[in-house]
This record gives sequence, C-alpha cells and structure tokens, in this order.
Amino acid sequence: MSNVSRQTSYENIHDDYRFFLEHCNEHEVGRGAMLEEIFQALGPVSALRWLDFGCGGGEFLAEALEQWTAKPASLRLSLVDVDSGYVEQAMGRVNALVDQVEGSDELESLSGPFDLITSNHALYFAADIEATLKGLNERLAEGGLCFLQIGGLENQFCRMWTEAYSKVNQPVPYYIADDFAVTLEKLGIAFSTRRIDCVTRFADTVENRKIMLNFIFMDAVGRFDEAYLLSLFDRYSTNGQISMENNNLCFLVRK
Ligand SMILES: C[S@@+](CC[C@H](N)C(=O)[O-])C[C@H]1O[C@@H](n2cnc3c(N)ncnc32)[C@H](O)[C@@H]1O
Repeated sequence: MSNVSRQTSYENIHDDYRFFLEHCNEHEVGRGAMLEEIFQALGPVSALRWLDFGCGGGEFLAEALEQWTAKPASLRLSLVDVDSGYVEQAMGRVNALVDQVEGSDELESLSGPFDLITSNHALYFAADIEATLKGLNERLAEGGLCFLQIGGLENQFCRMWTEAYSKVNQPVPYYIADDFAVTLEKLGIAFSTRRIDCVTRFADTVENRKIMLNFIFMDAVGRFDEAYLLSLFDRYSTNGQISMENNNLCFLVRK
C-alpha cells in the first residue's frame, strides 16, 4: 500500500475508538503477547527505558504495567503521539505506575537510547515508514527489544480500506504489516513475526456500524458513499450481531 505524507490524529474520534476497544479483545491478546515477548527477550531487569510510539490515551500501556509481574524497580517511560491531548491523558494514566514519564507529539524530540520500544497499532499512520522505522531502530539500545503490532492484508479493517479506496480509484494512504516487512528488509534490520488472533463483536445497528466506520476511516469517512461503507459490514452479520474474526502481526526486532 502506498502512503501520502500527512498526519492522522485520533483527535476527533476518541469516542469511536473507545467504542471499538469496548467491543474487541485486541488489547487483551496484544498485551499478553507483548508481555511474553518482553519477558523472553529482556528477562527480569532492574531498570528499563521504554519508548511507546502512538501511545493513544494510554489504556494499553497502563494495563500492561499493571499486569507485568516482573516489572523493573526503575522504569522511565517516554510517550509519543501526534494527538497531544492523548499524550496528556496517557501520562496521567501511567504516572503512578512508573518512576518517570515524559511525552511528546514527535519522535524527533526523544533521543534515547531505549531498552524497549513498542508501538501498538499506530504505525499505519507514520508520515514516512522508512524514516520512522529507521528512527525507532536508531533509538534502540544494544540488547534492546522493539515490539511493533499492526494489521496486514488479512486484517478485516485493512481489507475494508483496500476495498473502499480501490472503489474510488485511490491508493490506501496508510501503511500495513506487509509494508513493514519490505521496509525492514530494505533497511537491513533483522526481524521475526508472530500472528495474533482477535475478535470484534457488537450489536448490528446502523448507529454502531457508523461509529465503527468513523474509527476505521477517520477523517476520510466522508470521502466515500455512506451506504456502500455501511454494506461492508454485511458479511460479518449474523443474528443481529457483527462478529469479525481478525488477526494482526507483531514484528520483533532485537539488537
Ligand atoms: C489505533 S490508535 C492506537 C493507540 C494505542 N497505541 C492503543 O493501543 O490503544 C493509533 C494512534 O496513533 C496515533 N498516531 C497517528 N499518526 C501518528 C504519528 N505519525 N506519530 C505518532 N502517533 C500517531 C493516533 O493519534 C492514535 O493515538
């Protein structure tokens, strides 16, 4: 998929994103996989510098920190999101769970090095995926772990992007897992992947479909025919319920 150079903030869709989070187990399974990989790669460490790219409102991180049984005694967390309202929310949420937290609306202002770099479903919207993956890798400390989670061509929401944008003869303006693999190879960064299955379920009403469309298509939702977009959910509908079996990929980079 190709990309246009622009920023996609969640600023206007906080409530729609919340609805999605309340109707899926994506955070739960993604967090479980992330904690397993952190433990395997880093073991029980006493001090950790952690950068999260595209932190959102911080729910994912706060819950991970609460569930992390081998949490280091000293933890410094750096948060990045283009939505500065989210950065503030996230900082407030994790404040009591770490020793130190800083936030920024741009990666460039945080130099690292970081022992752990994570990004949960945010790199779709990077302005330039090559520069961003290179920038993250440069900030990773020797012996560190980078854990990036994202959907690919098999992900149902990415599939909706592909179908809707091809209907209006436009390229999808976001990156997906398949672009990561190509870009990491081009940059000579060794990686492994892990597939994570998840599910989204909600009552099948027009109102709920519209909320989900706002979340999936964000500020571009008005560019498409609404009846067409609403019909994209038909294939997932049974007995008044939308049920989307889904999967994502985790990319793991060790230095
Ligand atoms: C799907 S949300 C994920 C939020 C959080 N990581 C979570 O798991 O709930 C995507 C996030 O990426 C942020 N974002 C979009 N473009 C970005 C960019 N270029 N740099 C950093 N964050 C970005 C959005 O504002 C939003 O908070």
